[in-house]
Amino acid sequence: MATYLTADTIKGLREQRGLTQRALAEAVGVTDKAVSKWESGRGLPDISLVEPLSAALGVSVAELLTGDVRQNANRAGNLMRCKFYVCPICGNVVHALGEGSFSCCGVQLVPCEAEDADGDHAIAVERIEDEWYVTLDHPMQKDHYISFIAYVTMDGVMLKKLYPEQEAAARFRMGASGIIYAYCNRHGLMRVRTPKRERPVRGSIPGERAQ
Ligand SMILES: [Fe+2]
Repeated sequence: MATYLTADTIKGLREQRGLTQRALAEAVGVTDKAVSKWESGRGLPDISLVEPLSAALGVSVAELLTGDVRQNANRAGNLMRCKFYVCPICGNVVHALGEGSFSCCGVQLVPCEAEDADGDHAIAVERIEDEWYVTLDHPMQKDHYISFIAYVTMDGVMLKKLYPEQEAAARFRMGASGIIYAYCNRHGLMRVRTPKRERPVRGSIPGERAQ
C-alpha cells in the first residue's frame, strides 16, 4: 500500500542529521518507541506531525513527503548558474543560487530551463549612459506576456517584474558582463548575453564614453 511517508525516508534523514531515535522523538514530542515503529514500517506518524518532523529533520514538507531531498552542491554560489522558479498559478518568481525545493500555491516548482532567445522573443540590449536598456517586441496581453526581465552577473541579480499592458522593457544599472533573462508566461525563460563593454581609452576623462 502506498503511504504518504516511508520508513526509509524517516530513517535515512534521521541518520543523515546524526540524530538518535530518542532525539528525534523529543524534537517531535513523541516516544522513541513511536519513532522505532515508523522506521520499521509498523506505523505512520500522525499527519499533524509532518510539519514538526520536517523541521526536526531539516527538510521541507515537500521533500519529506516525496523523499526527494535536494542537496545543492553549489552552496558556494555562482550566480551565473542560478535558477529561476516560476509558480504556474500565481506567477510568483523564486530566484535561487542552484537547484532547491520550493513550492508555491501548493505546487512543487521546477527550475526553468533557459533557452537562447528565439525570433519571437528577441531581447534587445542597448547601452544608455550607465544603464542597460532591455526591450522585447513581444505581446503584453493577459494570457501572453513577459512577466519578468532579469540581469544576472557573477555577483548580483536584478529583477524587474512586469505585468500585462506594461511595456516589455527594463533598465538596469550596468555592472559586469552577464546574462539578461526574459520570461514569457507561455514560452518560458529566454536568455542573451550582455553586449561587450567598450574598454576605456587610457587617459580619458572618467565617466566619458570611450570612442
Ligand atoms: Fe511568448
